[in-house]
Amino acid sequence: MATIHINAKPGDYASTVLLPGDPLRAKFIAEHFLTDVKQVNDVRNMLGFTGYYGNKRVSVMGTGMGIPSCSLYAIELITQFGVKNLIRVGSCGTVQDNIAIGDIIVAMGASTDSNVNRQRFMQHDFAALADFSLLQRVVERATKHETPIRVGNVFSSDLFYTPTPEIFSTLKSMGVLGIEMEAAGLYGVAAQYQARALTLLTVSDHITKQLHASSLERETSFTQMITLALDSVID
Ligand code: HPA
Repeated sequence: MATIHINAKPGDYASTVLLPGDPLRAKFIAEHFLTDVKQVNDVRNMLGFTGYYGNKRVSVMGTGMGIPSCSLYAIELITQFGVKNLIRVGSCGTVQDNIAIGDIIVAMGASTDSNVNRQRFMQHDFAALADFSLLQRVVERATKHETPIRVGNVFSSDLFYTPTPEIFSTLKSMGVLGIEMEAAGLYGVAAQYQARALTLLTVSDHITKQLHASSLERETSFTQMITLALDSVID
């Protein structure tokens, strides 16, 4: 049944959904990586599609930016459309000297300045983790295809324009690989609703070096990341 934010029918979504932030990225993925594609959502232009990658049925939908937007779509997909595997495919910044623009980061865990998981967890610190089976498949595929990846902790920030840039040196010294705005919320949702979640990110910004990905770098690393995600799809 349609929900407040998704006007799809039961069965319109596959059990695995790739989740880019940008709905036009969802359209691009559907058009360039999937076959037999059907558009399944257009509420607020948060475009969603279902098609096939080889013989695997898979969906892709935008989430918008930030934990609140990403979380509400994830919750509706899980609870109303039977989605079991949610794979965020996004971009991130980094503050690590040994990480470069275009690198692919797999978020094994997600730290955050958001309060959402404390609200879920009696105000305690919840360790927001990726699903191990999805993580394992991505690592296996990356190893097999010799796609370099970095696996570790990311930081999901509520504020893109942070008033406390001092945080960056702490993130650096604590070994945080990437900075983005959704993973910790997505992992909290997956835990609360017993779904599987994983986040793959391409590095689009080097915050301390003040570097930004060129359109060619964005496209190359994006293609590698999407292929990795699709190759790892499970039912
Ligand atoms: N900060 C937060 N989110 C991001 C960034 C960043 O620098 N780059 C891409 N997503």
